[in-house]
Amino acid sequence: MGHRILTVSERPDLAPIVARWRVEAFFDYPGGWTVETMTAAILAPPDGPEETFVLFDQDRPVGTAGLVREDLETRPDLTPWLAAVFVEPACRGRGYASALVRQVEAFARAASVPVLWLYTRAAEPLYARLGWQRVGLGRDGDHEVVLMRRDLTGI
Ligand SMILES: CC(C)(COP(=O)(O)OP(=O)(O)OC[C@H]1O[C@@H](n2cnc3c(N)ncnc32)[C@H](O)[C@@H]1OP(=O)(O)O)[C@@H](O)C(=O)NCCC(=O)NCCS
Repeated sequence: MGHRILTVSERPDLAPIVARWRVEAFFDYPGGWTVETMTAAILAPPDGPEETFVLFDQDRPVGTAGLVREDLETRPDLTPWLAAVFVEPACRGRGYASALVRQVEAFARAASVPVLWLYTRAAEPLYARLGWQRVGLGRDGDHEVVLMRRDLTGI
């Protein structure tokens, strides 16, 4: 497929690119995260098994996904999370998000994580196809979200 996935730990210079994607795709409202504050958060020392991944198409960064300790404020009991999956519009439909999800799963499994969590508004079919199970609904601010889990012990 002509792609490879790197981590921000090995390439900290990628943090501002990921931060811009995250802010534009997920926090596009006033008073929230800025590219600067998000860059700092991405570069902060990991709290447990955390990592940020960047997918390159040839030599161009076009997508990202993260493993984070906390993601959904209303569910602090669940950890860790697959978060902030994003692929540039021109590169969608090529399996890049799927490759990023698989990479996060492999990283988490190597860190002895038994179960991963995620929440999504619209991408449930993508994750379901990759073996994730819907466990119910949650809330993210004013929005209803689908909560999903991935058992990493049997794969
Ligand atoms: C969702 C997203 C990451 C998929 O990236 P991708 O590289 O195209 O995904 P893949 O090629 O691996 O898989 C394609 C599947 O993703 C899903 N998908 C694609 N675009 C989507 C979108 N805009 N919204 C929701 N799901 C989408 C579909 O299920 C699609 O399946 P199909 O090919 O049978 O139609 C990408 O559309 C994106 O960045 N969207 C904006 C950010 C976002 O919503 N992220 C998910 C947060 S939970």
